[in-house]
Amino acid sequence: MSNTVSLSFTLNGEQKSIDVPSSVTLGDLLRGDFNLSGTNLSCERGVCGACTVLIDGKPIAACHTFAFEIEDAEIRTIEGLEGDDGTLDPVQEAFAELSSFQCGYCTSGMIMLARALLDRDPFPTDATIKEWISSNICRCTGYAMIIEAVKLAAIKIAENKKEVRK
Ligand code: FES
Ligand code: FES
Repeated sequence: MSNTVSLSFTLNGEQKSIDVPSSVTLGDLLRGDFNLSGTNLSCERGVCGACTVLIDGKPIAACHTFAFEIEDAEIRTIEGLEGDDGTLDPVQEAFAELSSFQCGYCTSGMIMLARALLDRDPFPTDATIKEWISSNICRCTGYAMIIEAVKLAAIKIAENKKEVRK
């Protein structure tokens, strides 16, 4: 038997309030209650990273986080990366342009992970990218093109910043 908890948090820029059983994970909350199916669940043990979302800007496994832990937090999922007009985030653009996915199961988690890295380090070295993405598993072993996509995304983000300054 589990108790119910009342939660308030920000989800992709919108304030949300919901009552959930205390045993519910963030992954199940996002997929089941908010229909955000871009957060994939695979191992459900906090190992593969397919379910990576950003909590206050930090990449976290949604399968390994209880919903009650996100009180007052800011949650960002793959659906929240797009602009209001449907414009893709530069990281999404880079993955699409370089076809840096095969089955795609790891892709949303990899993109969220890459976004968090580039928010901290705008031009990471190859070694840093490799170390950063090593927390997530790509079963199709498409790591080389994932690394290229992170580097292309870094260039795109820098170009976008220059455009804004003009
Ligand atoms: S599904 Fe969450 S880490 Fe694998
Ligand atoms: S593209 Fe298939 S698991 Fe990564």
